[in-house]
Amino acid sequence: MAISDEIKERLDIVEVVGSYVPGLKKAGRSYHALCPFHTERTPSFVVFPERQSWRCFGACATGGDVLSFVMRMEKMSFTDTVKLLAQRAGLALPQRQERKERNVLYQINEAAAAYFQELLWSVPGMAVRAYLQQRGVETEAAKRFQLGLSPGGRSTLLDHLTALGYSLEQVLRAGLATSRDEGSPRDLFHGRLMFAIHDDQGNLSGFGGRSLDGSDPKYLNSPRTEVFDKGHILYAFHLAKASIKEHGEVVVVEGYMDALAAHQHGFDNVVACMGTALTEHQVSLLRGAGRSFVLALDPDAAGRHATFRDLVESWHALERQLVGRRGNVSIYQPTADLSAIRVALMPQGKDPDEVIRQDPELWRSLVSQALPLVDYFLASAPERWDLSTSEGKAAAAQELWPVIMAIQNAFEQEKYLRRLADALGVQPATLEASLGRPRSVASPRRGRASTPSASTTPFEGEHHDTLEEHLLALLLQWPELRQQAQEVEPQSLERWENRQLFTLWIECSKIDKFQDTLEEDIRQQANYLIALPLPPMDLRRREQAVKECIQRLEERRLRRLKAEEALLLEGWNEAGDGGEPRDWEQQSLETNEKLRRLFGERGGYQRPARGH
Ligand code: UTP
Ligand code: MN
Repeated sequence: MAISDEIKERLDIVEVVGSYVPGLKKAGRSYHALCPFHTERTPSFVVFPERQSWRCFGACATGGDVLSFVMRMEKMSFTDTVKLLAQRAGLALPQRQERKERNVLYQINEAAAAYFQELLWSVPGMAVRAYLQQRGVETEAAKRFQLGLSPGGRSTLLDHLTALGYSLEQVLRAGLATSRDEGSPRDLFHGRLMFAIHDDQGNLSGFGGRSLDGSDPKYLNSPRTEVFDKGHILYAFHLAKASIKEHGEVVVVEGYMDALAAHQHGFDNVVACMGTALTEHQVSLLRGAGRSFVLALDPDAAGRHATFRDLVESWHALERQLVGRRGNVSIYQPTADLSAIRVALMPQGKDPDEVIRQDPELWRSLVSQALPLVDYFLASAPERWDLSTSEGKAAAAQELWPVIMAIQNAFEQEKYLRRLADALGVQPATLEASLGRPRSVASPRRGRASTPSASTTPFEGEHHDTLEEHLLALLLQWPELRQQAQEVEPQSLERWENRQLFTLWIECSKIDKFQDTLEEDIRQQANYLIALPLPPMDLRRREQAVKECIQRLEERRLRRLKAEEALLLEGWNEAGDGGEPRDWEQQSLETNEKLRRLFGERGGYQRPARGH
């Protein structure tokens, strides 16, 4: 759960507001006071404990939750308000102490990298330098990638680091030494070619060490530490990020050497997945940075098939993540758009590393001619299954079906379905009948069905607002809609982070700058929205979608207002304290009128089965 949600759950709005507004008086089911945000003589400021909301029915005509109240009251930023209220609610914020300790680990890694580099570029490194030269690694690239050589002795690095003032415990925590074996602690890496591995922010978080004498393992990597988790990191991502952002495309290779060779030759949008299947974290990083993805795979068939399987796995994992995980998970990842992924196959027997070194132009064209993932899946089917047997057909269909079902564009989907049927030598109808096509997925109305009005969303009732998110995703993903965004009333966004995000975005002229200025919570939400898959639409349809969202938000706001007014009137009558309900009644009539007008404007719009 996001910290702001926890705050709302823990704190009672009446108590918090009461501590700022002394005259808060109970009247039936609500609390009333003079509005603290404007000057008035009769109270029009109301707190609704049941809804944990507040509203000024007077001149401000505004309202919100406990967070927005305190933010206005204290004139504080988002983060500061959260901090303040978290403290009040007794909730721990991500610790500053923790960050300090992580920083120490980065420093140790930097010190180790400096030591490895020193060795590489002095006498003991001579043979390794020759090896690098023979592999075509230029000095400049070797230095930029902080290549190094780990010392051969039992605890040479450990001794060096302790001499620099780091404790044994710290070196162990950085994963550079190990005390698992018998005897005194010793270095993890011995006589290996060292690759420095940075996280997406450019912090040096771990190492990969290549064996130089054929000993196993070929690559030894840092163990999992507080700052290193191989599955969370893409090698060279920090160096590639800017280029990926600029061009929208990212190329994924498998090995350290492949990424290094690419960058050395100016292909600076290349990252390495470090040999394993792309994890959800890695895919999230990719999707946060780029719009189109090329996987440049090693050529051996076994390896490719493994990657193939893994991709399908990741695919499903992402779908699982969409349904199952919300809250303060680092990045929210809905289903990736399949059509954005392509596969570049290297010529038989060659790594990207070799291809790039021998013929950069060939590399360039292999990447630009990469096959869409589904085509690749279909093309490689005959290699993987014996499609002349019914078992082979069944196995292929079983594996390819979900991939095709995940295509968002209905026409594209239809096309691939036919191609799969062709490849298997069956009728599309047979295929559908045997595998049970989920109609809703293939229907051209899918776009609509997945818009926020769908009451079947798994998020309903969670800390999540699909209507607001759909609107924001539209706006963030299509800059042409910015003009139209002026019509959005920030007040109508109820989710705290959405309103904040929208306000910051509309005030910020440069979208890149905008992302850089965001607080962590909001940045996560922004990443999520930027990656949210939207149905394919032309500009006119997009504008229409924005318009509909705005209207639905307004409708929802008015409905909420009505609900609050009803509570108010009820409470007023129950309390019978001789107040003057006339104004409220008048206001309620006005709300009704606004709602009527809204419906009129929208003509044939069909209300969702269960609106908000
Ligand atoms: P490769 O075996 O293809 O290595 O593994 P490579 O990068 O091409 O290295 P060279 O060209 O032989 O020098 C691909 C990647 O898989 C990870 C590493 O990240 C490696 O770069 N890997 C491989 C490991 O982590 N451990 C291993 O034992 C092997
Ligand atoms: Mn290689």
